Amino acid sequence: MENNQILTDLKGKTAIVTGGTKGIGRAIANELAQAGATVIVSARNQPEGDNSHHFIAADLTNPADVAELEQEIKQKFGGVDILINNVGGLTTPPGGFSALTDEHWESELQLNLLAATRLDRIFLPGMIAKKSGVVIHISSVAAKQPLWNLNMAYAVSKAALNSYSKSLATELASKGVRVLTVAPGATKTPPMEKFVSDYAQSSNITVEEAFKQLLAQTGGIPMGRMAEPEEVASLVHYLVSPAAKYLTGTTYAIDGGSLPVV
Ligand SMILES: NC(=O)c1ccc[n+]([C@@H]2O[C@H](COP(=O)([O-])OP(=O)(O)OC[C@H]3O[C@@H](n4cnc5c(N)ncnc54)[C@H](OP(=O)(O)O)[C@@H]3O)[C@@H](O)[C@H]2O)c1
Repeated sequence: MENNQILTDLKGKTAIVTGGTKGIGRAIANELAQAGATVIVSARNQPEGDNSHHFIAADLTNPADVAELEQEIKQKFGGVDILINNVGGLTTPPGGFSALTDEHWESELQLNLLAATRLDRIFLPGMIAKKSGVVIHISSVAAKQPLWNLNMAYAVSKAALNSYSKSLATELASKGVRVLTVAPGATKTPPMEKFVSDYAQSSNITVEEAFKQLLAQTGGIPMGRMAEPEEVASLVHYLVSPAAKYLTGTTYAIDGGSLPVV
């Protein structure tokens, strides 16, 4: 037990969690702080009354904001040991290919792929110089199980993120930097709850019925419920810790058994 605690201890490490003010990102920030890390969170809006982590305001789809975030972190912290690229989300309308404009495609790629590549470019040189560091890309089961009528461009952007993450892991494996992908299934966060309730409203059905119908389209969740953000955070904590020192280049689904693949 004591050994396990030492292996997952993060004292002396500095971590940044993008989108660390809500949902999965907030749960990860809290979990890493509890393990002893100094945690920086970024988002567009400062959370009201929550000063538990160092907050930096930045829209990560805007390179100018990212440059300011880089300056602030380099001045105040020097760099980071752990980078959690959590920012992302489904921002485009349902309805398949004909509902998606160039702007929709670009916005999904900006949020779900390019934000991560920007942050990686900033912080990887410092990790490589120290021959130590971990990068996590928060993807989605949608990358492997796209639903054409619900999330076409989002799923494509997450599939691109998975591929990028794998390439990066291979490039950096001999340089002491680990790169991993975490792919949550449906997780109980505000956008997921809104997604289900919007679907219920547009189909004129109850939220419970909407959840059942959406699940039916994916083959269901064998465990019969969504993940809690803290459950995703717990996996991320393990992956960034010394206990996972031989893990790189792999994708971990955390989905209650929903992905129908071996
Ligand atoms: N929830 C799910 O069921 C689920 C399933 C699979 C994968 N995921 C993935 O998990 C990650 C987190 O999702 P979540 O559901 O926890 O999201 P969430 O609750 O909406 O939180 C998103 C976070 O990102 C910030 N953010 C959004 N757009 C931003 C931007 N342009 N620049 C900087 N920060 C931005 C938000 O704060 P501000 O609004 O203040 O900027 C917030 O802190 C995403 O990558 C998502 O694709 C979620």
